[in-house]
Amino acid sequence: MVTGTSLSAVFPLGSRVNERGRLEVGGCDTIEMAREFGTPAYVVAEDDLRTRARAFVQAGRDTGHSDFHVVFASKAFPCTAVLALFASEGLWCDAASGGELHLALEAGFHPERIVLHGNAKSEAELRMALRHRVGAIVVDNFDEIDRLARLVAEGELADRSDGQPVLVRVTPDVSGETHEKISTGQADSKFGFAIERAGEAIARLRAVEGLSLRGLHAHIGSQLLGLEPFRREAAEFAKLGDFPVWDLGGGLGVQYTEGQPSPPSIEEYVSTIVESAHANGMGPETRLLIEPGRALCANAGVTLYTVESVKQNVSRWVAVDGGMSDNMRPMLYGAPYEAHVADRLGGATQCVLAGKHCESGDVILREALLADPRPGDVIVTPATGAYGYAMANNYNGVPRAPVVFCRDGDARVVVRRERHEDLTARDVS
Ligand code: LLP
Repeated sequence: MVTGTSLSAVFPLGSRVNERGRLEVGGCDTIEMAREFGTPAYVVAEDDLRTRARAFVQAGRDTGHSDFHVVFASKAFPCTAVLALFASEGLWCDAASGGELHLALEAGFHPERIVLHGNAKSEAELRMALRHRVGAIVVDNFDEIDRLARLVAEGELADRSDGQPVLVRVTPDVSGETHEKISTGQADSKFGFAIERAGEAIARLRAVEGLSLRGLHAHIGSQLLGLEPFRREAAEFAKLGDFPVWDLGGGLGVQYTEGQPSPPSIEEYVSTIVESAHANGMGPETRLLIEPGRALCANAGVTLYTVESVKQNVSRWVAVDGGMSDNMRPMLYGAPYEAHVADRLGGATQCVLAGKHCESGDVILREALLADPRPGDVIVTPATGAYGYAMANNYNGVPRAPVVFCRDGDARVVVRRERHEDLTARDVS
């Protein structure tokens, strides 16, 4: 891995400022990458993804719990190259739609290692899951039980011998401190069965021949920076009975800016989950699953932009060539980021870093401190490896940005930039 001037934990592992004073990611000079691949671009350090995947797997091994699996929440970065990398590291995959299931299969995950989620699964999505016999369908509501029972009766099962494994999603009324839009475990959630109805769901699923009820699932929220909610989740879970499989969801938070407190480490998080499970009767013979999304990929990625204009109104407005089409998070959640000029990191010029979209809310960072930014400068926003590409869109007809993997000084495009022709490719004349 690259050595040199080390940067804060917000940047991909191995990033440094090189001899030319430029940010280097995965051994590649970001200014050169901006020139070669254009901007905006999602730049991902491959070694970072692998290191974090290995850290999760190793942390599981260190607990001594043999049937422990790390299920990547593919919604965080639903890109084939990322999924294939995690598949090669032995992770499992959480898919929340037929589209994500398709991506997971194409990327090479064995169906047994795929968990299908969704609070509004369509019949077509359920059929697809049954035909591939995914590792588990996480059942969210009574209508889905009826639909599954009908599909199984109609003969949609891939394997009749021991049935399609299912888990029951419960909402354990544990909420962690996070933005309300990404909090999911509270009693009145759109996800899963209220805890009082879980018994009925379990009984109804057990009565369906062809389905095999294996256990429970919960996901209490995202970007959680404390471990206590995970302990409470395990305690609530355990009240529902004994099962061979427990899926405790994802949610471990990450550091988006240098000033933000560090989240618990992967090791602390995994050991807390496993210890809490054991303390609540989920013994060593059970299967434990966790579903990290952003903790596996957020800090592995940076976004590169080019400054198009700098103007002084009341504030100093620095406008770049991307924005809410490549990163919705500041607009949706008020999510904080930091930004730097890629060849002058740090800086003291107070600016508003704005996107190029026709909307005042298209601001990436209200209070950016940049080193005298000028048109043509490359701007980098670290910690954009999760839910940026995932929620990208074509607002204002802006083509979606490419994904570039870098490793040991080599950079390669794994998803090409959209072209203007892609914007009309689905038109039917
Ligand atoms: N498992 C389930 C069932 C989930 O619903 C989620 C996230 C995860 C795992 C992964 O959560 P993570 O470890 O990444 O926090 N667009 C939002 C995030 C929405 C997350 C929804 N579910 C954002 O940009 O923050």
